[in-house]
Amino acid sequence: MASGMPTPKRGIMDIDAYVPGESSVPGGMEPIKLSSNENPLGASPAAIAAFKEAAGTLARYPDGSASGLRQAIARVHGLNPDRIVCGAGSDELLNLLAHAYLEPGDETIFTEHGFLVYRIVTLGCGAMPVVAPEKDLRTDVDAILARVTPKTKMVFIANPNNPTGTYIPFDEVRRLRQGLPDHVVLVLDAAYSEYVRRNDYEAGIELVATTGNTVMTRTFSKIHGLAALRLGWAYCPAGIADALNRIRGPFNVSAPAIAAGIAALEDCGHVEASVAHNERWLAWLTAELEKLGLKVTPSVANFVLVHFPGEKRRDADAANAFLQSRAIIVRKMGAYGLPGALRVTIGTEAENRATLAALEAFMTGVAR
Ligand SMILES: Cc1ncc(COP(=O)(O)O)c(C=O)c1O
Repeated sequence: MASGMPTPKRGIMDIDAYVPGESSVPGGMEPIKLSSNENPLGASPAAIAAFKEAAGTLARYPDGSASGLRQAIARVHGLNPDRIVCGAGSDELLNLLAHAYLEPGDETIFTEHGFLVYRIVTLGCGAMPVVAPEKDLRTDVDAILARVTPKTKMVFIANPNNPTGTYIPFDEVRRLRQGLPDHVVLVLDAAYSEYVRRNDYEAGIELVATTGNTVMTRTFSKIHGLAALRLGWAYCPAGIADALNRIRGPFNVSAPAIAAGIAALEDCGHVEASVAHNERWLAWLTAELEKLGLKVTPSVANFVLVHFPGEKRRDADAANAFLQSRAIIVRKMGAYGLPGALRVTIGTEAENRATLAALEAFMTGVAR
């Protein structure tokens, strides 16, 4: 019989726990929080009303199959509801995919500055993360394909990627799929897809519909402004939906989340306003930061990656401390291998202007 204290499975202790964006500043000031790519316009009023109404039935379990929500998603996106699996954020779906398909010794591939959760879910299954370099902070399909081995089981790409904000066109995604062996699950994480305004972009619906091994994940945390409720969905081939449904918790999505999610989907006006707001202020913030001499990676999402000069007093750590002193919280990028950069979410007009003014003061050394 084994003796001693319990030890976690292989891989678990290699995980650096995910550190969410900070949400408070010293001194108790009300912060401007631009660290988690949330919607500055908040949730749709209809979603908030639906959430409040759900308070009347909190003693009841939710619909375990989330069928009303799946049907609403299917209606809005023109999909087959049977192939939609909902989860507590897309994070849960990434976890479920890993647990359904990865065994110890398998390999997953993701990109150099890819979303941190891919590494966590891989190690959590005892599998081996393999990192593919990016080209100009963009997913490099050839670099991914060059790293495929007989052990590769899953490839994750965020398109657009967090934290770079860059994307690859649909032709490239298709080339990636065509180059991968059939037994490899390709996970297209489209958390920011609604923000993209490019003719050559497609979130992944077509590939899911036409292949048996591609999954697209989506979230209500960004464009729908429902991050607190934890709601996401995956569009899957029938076999993969079946596998996920066998291992997910029987009531993994709460009733208030289901109700708010349906209302959010149906409020096209709020979605359009959120996209229009982002389009305007993404362009503005990028241009204004560049005028300050800062390098900004071109973004199609709701945040920008801003690169700071190497000198100590002007570097990303100094900029972050300066912003914090003005109660502005952005995301440090050391954990993503980008210690010289900060990620700044597009905020309200007032938040964007305050952030720019602070960075101008930081760069010119003139405090206002
Ligand atoms: C690329 C990417 N995928 C997934 C998620 C997780 O989103 P959710 O809130 O749905 O778990 C995020 C959140 O920041 C993200 O940036």
